[in-house]
Amino acid sequence: MPRGKFITLEGGEGVGKTTNLIFIENYLKLHDIPVIITREPGGTALAEKLRQLLLDKNSEIISENAELLLVFAARAQHIKHVIEPALTTGVWVLCDRFTDATFAYQGGGRNMKNSTIEWLENLVQGSLRPDLTLLLDAPVEIGLERAKSRGILDRFESEKIQFFEQVRRAYLLQAELHPSRIKVIKTNQPLIDVENELINVIGNFIR
Ligand code: TMP
Repeated sequence: MPRGKFITLEGGEGVGKTTNLIFIENYLKLHDIPVIITREPGGTALAEKLRQLLLDKNSEIISENAELLLVFAARAQHIKHVIEPALTTGVWVLCDRFTDATFAYQGGGRNMKNSTIEWLENLVQGSLRPDLTLLLDAPVEIGLERAKSRGILDRFESEKIQFFEQVRRAYLLQAELHPSRIKVIKTNQPLIDVENELINVIGNFIR
């Protein structure tokens, strides 16, 4: 049985990940591809608890190192108990955020060194990297407006606009560094155009 493919969906706050994730899932199923949807931080019982700790804006001040290690602790559980078992049995994994988010949020947003993140990436993931990453990109103000309209903001969403500008820049830099894996899709255009771009990229990938 061929190994499943690992697809990740990335982007800043309010860029439309949820809507497009469902669209991609349906598109893959239409092509008879067995797929599971999961997310980071999260995806297992323990990783979801770590997610709650990371997103709780009423917690004590979380140090940058603690935040980074919590993200990778959740990732280690997720890989061992969800991602690898699926891929090895031929199931595709569609994941809402993965390590590009760490380069964007902890690297870009919190100014942590990329070399530190890479070190943890190698430790926790071994050779596992996404086969395809869809980076949804929109101007920060548009995304934040959408995030705000959804209700109470979490610990990350409550950051200042400069933080999100840094996150966006770091995401786009990741895309420049990995052009064959990361495809950038602008989401400040009509949904039908976004969907057509997704079909184009995923269609090529499947072929
Ligand atoms: P979301 O799933 O609603 O986008 O929320 C997850 C939050 O966690 C989001 O604000 C980005 C943040 N995050 C990191 O800071 N680093 C990471 O590695 C991941 C996966 C998420």
